[in-house]
Amino acid sequence: MRVGILTGGGDCPGLNAVIRAVVRKAERHYGYQVIGFLDGWRGVVEDDWVGLNVESCRGLLPKGGTVLGTSRHTPFNLDNGMARAGDTMHKHDLDALIAIGGEGTLSCASEVSELGFNVIGVPKTIDNDVGCTERTFGFDTAVAVATEAIDRLHTTAESHARVMFVEVMGRNVGHIAIWAGIAGGATYTLVPEEPFDLDELCAALLRRKARGRYASIVVVAEGARPQPGTLEIAEPPVDAYGHKRLGGIASVIAQEVEQRTNLETRVTILGHVQRGGSPTPFDRVLATRFGVAAIDAAHAKQFGQMVALRGGQIELVALKDATANLKPVNSEMLEVAHAFFA
Ligand code: F6P
Repeated sequence: MRVGILTGGGDCPGLNAVIRAVVRKAERHYGYQVIGFLDGWRGVVEDDWVGLNVESCRGLLPKGGTVLGTSRHTPFNLDNGMARAGDTMHKHDLDALIAIGGEGTLSCASEVSELGFNVIGVPKTIDNDVGCTERTFGFDTAVAVATEAIDRLHTTAESHARVMFVEVMGRNVGHIAIWAGIAGGATYTLVPEEPFDLDELCAALLRRKARGRYASIVVVAEGARPQPGTLEIAEPPVDAYGHKRLGGIASVIAQEVEQRTNLETRVTILGHVQRGGSPTPFDRVLATRFGVAAIDAAHAKQFGQMVALRGGQIELVALKDATANLKPVNSEMLEVAHAFFA
């Protein structure tokens, strides 16, 4: 069997661990050959690839980013993309293609699979928003980075008696914000799932001050939005793929809070720091389990499926179901966070 592999969309820690696991089991257990396409779907369309083997994957487990490169191209946004991708699959006599990615890459995998390609999906993203899986790898690392930042901000917040705003990633969902907020003991957390009320936030911060605890930490997901008509937020610019470039809402909120409450604020936007560097042990293990399960699925010809973590076990789910809806933060987690709002 010959298998292709690609990494698409925003990178995240653990991508290389999946590649290594796929290659190791493919070569040593099944005797399969693996090639890696460069820059996600672009490499498939443009027939741009590198050979992968156990030797070339040495040292990849703890390495952040992706050695294959990544992009937001798909066969649908490149000229004659599907036909060229088909030619590439044919030319290399590929029996299966393993696509590692988030919402965009996996939706593309689902469509491509319906058109007859033998595809298996592996869910990644620090946002943890892919449906039908309890976790995506990369999320645990991002939460660890954000929690460490919040821990550090606590001490300077207390020294200066300030309200510190910390903006984390999470364009459509607030998993990173809620987890880091709970882990870091935030005073308040704003997430896309719950349009916020600025008056309520200001009142909470003032209540806290009245109790003698002036310093506060407010965690803001980059995709957090105010309740309609309560605060003017400029529409973010979009990139070449129509992807909104978020970032900066915490500054708008902090300025407004300072004006309304007279509390001194500061803003930290964590940005891509959350996506860089070495994966945590949890993400290394999850990425490895996903990689092994993906090549097992290819061996079993279980195409059109995505590997997923469900009830602590690795299972296969239909790509179509996994990409139907994003996974929001559940109400239990939101309630846990609410219990600590000032
Ligand atoms: O989807 C993952 C993510 O990290 C989002 O949380 C964030 O909004 C986006 O990627 C940033 O993408 P880019 O790397 O294009 O700036």
